[in-house]
Amino acid sequence: MTSGDITGAQLQWPDLPAAQQPEWPQDGSVERVRETLAALPPLVFAGECDVLKSRLADAARGEAFLLQGGDCAEMFESATADNIRDRIRTLLQMAAVLTYGASTPVIKVGRIAGQFAKPRSKNTETRGDVTLPAFRGDIVNDFAFTPEARRPDPERLLRAYHTSASTLNLVRAFTTGGFADLRRVHEWNRGFIANSAYARYESMARDIDNAMKFMTACGVDFESTPLSAVELFSSHEALLLDYEQPLTRIDSRTGDAYAVSGHFVWVGERTRQLDGAHLDYVSRIKNPVGVKVGPDADPDEILRIIDQVDPEREPGRLTFITRMGAGKIRERLPRLVEKVTESGAPAVWVCDPMHGNTFESASGYKTREFDDVVDEVRGFFEVHGSLGTIPGGIHVELTGNDVTECLGGSEKILDADLATRYESACDPRLNHQQSLELSFLVAEMLSAR
Ligand code: TRP
Ligand code: MN
Repeated sequence: MTSGDITGAQLQWPDLPAAQQPEWPQDGSVERVRETLAALPPLVFAGECDVLKSRLADAARGEAFLLQGGDCAEMFESATADNIRDRIRTLLQMAAVLTYGASTPVIKVGRIAGQFAKPRSKNTETRGDVTLPAFRGDIVNDFAFTPEARRPDPERLLRAYHTSASTLNLVRAFTTGGFADLRRVHEWNRGFIANSAYARYESMARDIDNAMKFMTACGVDFESTPLSAVELFSSHEALLLDYEQPLTRIDSRTGDAYAVSGHFVWVGERTRQLDGAHLDYVSRIKNPVGVKVGPDADPDEILRIIDQVDPEREPGRLTFITRMGAGKIRERLPRLVEKVTESGAPAVWVCDPMHGNTFESASGYKTREFDDVVDEVRGFFEVHGSLGTIPGGIHVELTGNDVTECLGGSEKILDADLATRYESACDPRLNHQQSLELSFLVAEMLSAR
């Protein structure tokens, strides 16, 4: 892979309107930072992106299921060893539940090592009589509500790169260095107080143990990679083009461009304009890419997105991540799926049951109801069930910690509990236990598929 920035004739998008970009200082600093980024090594390799694409092609055919999860917005400060380990552990536990519960290979993708930029509904935030630029994620400015903190700072692009690099380094260590070994299935559950979700996990872990003992007795080699390691891919929203472009490289094997900031990138609901820079950008890279789709999406627009992003109709290339809301999915999803299916395009359908179910609680916290999250996933399976199409995966915002950001679950988190441990700087995430509970429920839906 060459380290050159791809610019010029090949790319049209720098001249197209790009929504949701910060107003960087006009002093040449962002240009300097882009040059520095363009000379830094890639975070991921093109061949890994191709592997993920072929796994997603399996998901489109119903031969695998995508589990994509992580923070709404990663924060530089939170990129600690403990936090990274806990998030990976949550994903591993969920993956074990899904793989075992539904006897289906699970593709594991983190919203991790790059999920630093946030689209905002308003450019500014007002508190009292003070109006400042909105917080756009750690990659742009600081969360603190002061003029200093909110000023977009291009140096943060570099910090995002380095934080992603060190996160990914630990992710690779944890997933291949023994931590993810299936023989540790019990250990991932240690330290949690006994309750129904953990008890259920324990009993499943015992079954897995027994199955492994049986297979060992049959001569299966557990030192072999398939059982002692996992593939965990990284993903984030390709929002900030001043970060993505310098981290777009030409693959020396093929001469094709790849985003090397992560294996999978998606375009959000607010930036997927057909004539905008973001869709043009992802149409020019070879990675598997996602497009978020909300309840008001027009089926013809979705077909045009396919023509633009996946003209070759390459299996695994394009994933639609639907975020309709529990109350709308059963009504709004069918016409999109029908249209796409009729067109013959091989899209992967993934359910994001988080973003259509956000509301402000009586006490003023941005929250989500666990039951709504479950209901949207249920609606997603129902729609695909009745159309005879494939529910390919779920995309969730979660953390490995015991936060209190989403209501409900078997812990029955109430509005009054939200203040106890509400840590998200952006959207509310499922906590560790709610994530496990969700995976048990999804495993049941998936095995009924
Ligand atoms: N490598 C296999 C897989 O990813 C089996 C495996 C190893 C596994 N460790 C795991 C599965 C942890 C789930 C969770 O499916
Ligand atoms: Mn979010």
